[in-house]
Amino acid sequence: MAVNLKGRNFLTLKDFTPDEIRYMLNLAADLKSKKRAGIRGDLLSGKNIVLLFEKTSTRTRCAFEVAVHDEGGNVTFLDSKSSQMGKKETMVDTAKVLGRFFDGIEYRGYDQAVVEGLAANAGVPVWNGLTDIDHPTQALADIMTLMENTKKPLNKCKLVFCGDTRNNVAYCLMYICCKLGIHYVGWGPKELAPAQDVVDYCRAVGKETGAVIEYGDDLSLVKGADALYTDIWASMGEEDKIPERVKLLTPFKVTKEVLAATENDDCIFLHCLPSFHDFDTTMAAEQMKLGYDIREVTDDVFLSPNSKVFDEAENRMHTIKAVMVATIGNL
Ligand code: CP
Ligand code: NVA
Repeated sequence: MAVNLKGRNFLTLKDFTPDEIRYMLNLAADLKSKKRAGIRGDLLSGKNIVLLFEKTSTRTRCAFEVAVHDEGGNVTFLDSKSSQMGKKETMVDTAKVLGRFFDGIEYRGYDQAVVEGLAANAGVPVWNGLTDIDHPTQALADIMTLMENTKKPLNKCKLVFCGDTRNNVAYCLMYICCKLGIHYVGWGPKELAPAQDVVDYCRAVGKETGAVIEYGDDLSLVKGADALYTDIWASMGEEDKIPERVKLLTPFKVTKEVLAATENDDCIFLHCLPSFHDFDTTMAAEQMKLGYDIREVTDDVFLSPNSKVFDEAENRMHTIKAVMVATIGNL
């Protein structure tokens, strides 16, 4: 049956079938080729999009903005400081108002219930731009990047997420891997193991798709990986946890030894970004002065030919464009 995502929300990949996810990935690849060929689109012409950010962003905000401009739409940015959102007006009322003005709403914030509440009340598609427990547009870009760098079918690929295996990026990767039959490994300390309900959900889906879902702290788990992935050790809002995270996660830093342990010269390195891979940011430098080396990856991996992190960042734009075009576009 032909896939039709018109009018759908994009809150978590759990809501999408494997065919629907493949459709968005293929659409993203088509839109990327079109952009590379210099073809200007009109798939969002006449559409007004609003971006709501309660946490900071570089990639996600720019990806949405550029994608909307590329396809002829209009975009408005709101954050909590410069709007009534949350402080003087509930998210339910905000959703009801914005749904009268806009054709689609992106939201980045803390609680998944907020993005769900927006979707329940806006009357127009709502797209999740990151919450504490999910980051579905990120996972689409990640798998698009894996597809660009492997000759294998996805259901023969193995992706290993290293570090905080219960964060938002780890969870969205678990969801996309289980849907697409990709072998997923979370390599991290048992104190930061994924929640049992997430593992149970992914394993149940994996029974249908062939995806194996594993996690543990043994380095041998990275063997045979097609992609090593990591993320910062303390996500937005968790900065006070840095000392304990450094203690727990230093053994899971992605170094050239970890890359070598994959025993796969073609293994790619992925990272959602932003990344602490040196001491050139104020945060990494300040933490180092306090005695905390917060680098989750070393430069010999981050800057290596195996690293595809900037292709991955670019793919945020193509995949986000695909999500908007699929759900509200003039297709
Ligand atoms: N990867 C990602 O979501 O980046 P930003 O926080 O810059 O949007
Ligand atoms: N886990 C990170 C992802 C940033 C894109 C965070 O939530 O801060």
